[in-house]
Amino acid sequence: MKILCAGSLNIDRVYPVPHFARAGETLASTGFSQAAGGKGLNQTIALARAGASVRHAGAVGEDGGLLRQALRDAGVDDGLLAQSALPTGHAIIQVDPAGQNSIIVSAGANGALEREYLSAMLDGCAPGDILLVQNETNELPWLLREGRRRRLTVAFNPSPVTPDLPGYPLDYADILILNEIEGAALSGESDPARMPAALRARYPRARVMLTLGGDGCVYEDAGQTVRQGIFPVKTVDTTAAGDTFCGYFLAWLAEERPIAEALRAASAAAALAVSRPGAVPSIPTRREVLDLLRGR
Ligand code: RIB
Repeated sequence: MKILCAGSLNIDRVYPVPHFARAGETLASTGFSQAAGGKGLNQTIALARAGASVRHAGAVGEDGGLLRQALRDAGVDDGLLAQSALPTGHAIIQVDPAGQNSIIVSAGANGALEREYLSAMLDGCAPGDILLVQNETNELPWLLREGRRRRLTVAFNPSPVTPDLPGYPLDYADILILNEIEGAALSGESDPARMPAALRARYPRARVMLTLGGDGCVYEDAGQTVRQGIFPVKTVDTTAAGDTFCGYFLAWLAEERPIAEALRAASAAAALAVSRPGAVPSIPTRREVLDLLRGR
């Protein structure tokens, strides 16, 4: 089973700070670094490092060399990216001493994907292949519909939450991979324990994969509910932990492994990502994940 990830690519500008800047405050960062990121790119790299067969649909501007290189380094064909006249998307990321982040994104090329290009990328998929999308590019409603029309397995990570998100045709999603904030926005339910059932009542077709931060994660479909706790690590930077989880979870699903195994692998991968700085640089290889799973 092959995977097409249609999603954002960002240059992440990362600023370690003593606390997140408050209204009216000018705050000095204690450092600066720049690395590859973007929810779409992070998930594609996680899939590739997990060993999945993945292509990436997205766009960068002339300044997108770092992101093309990140794809190449992971063995993903950067020649399939659209070249945009707009600047590459970027993110400004504050990271506090506890490793939590606060992110501002500027869409740039991510906000101007063209249907003709996306259609051509979708032409390379066969029925049953996975189409993975997040909420950081334009054309989301169209992509969801088109994925269903082409009989792909549509996996949607509704991140970040935007005002138009609840209006998307989410009935077309076969798998929702989301955290508590996204779960609350889509289910109207504030208690995480009730979110999977509330989401499945609203979107009966969807399998629900809900991550719960320090409380692990829960998967639910018509026939089963499976839970997994976290692998405890020292938190350095949570950026891309959710993306890493998403990529590893789908990679294991694409190998038709049991859900419990997919949850364990995804949780181990996310733990490794949390223990390292940055987005793409923090995403572990399959070998590292297997070593953690085997207790090495
Ligand atoms: O999920 C983390 C990502 O969110 C960062 O890499 C940043 O680019 C934003 O898209």
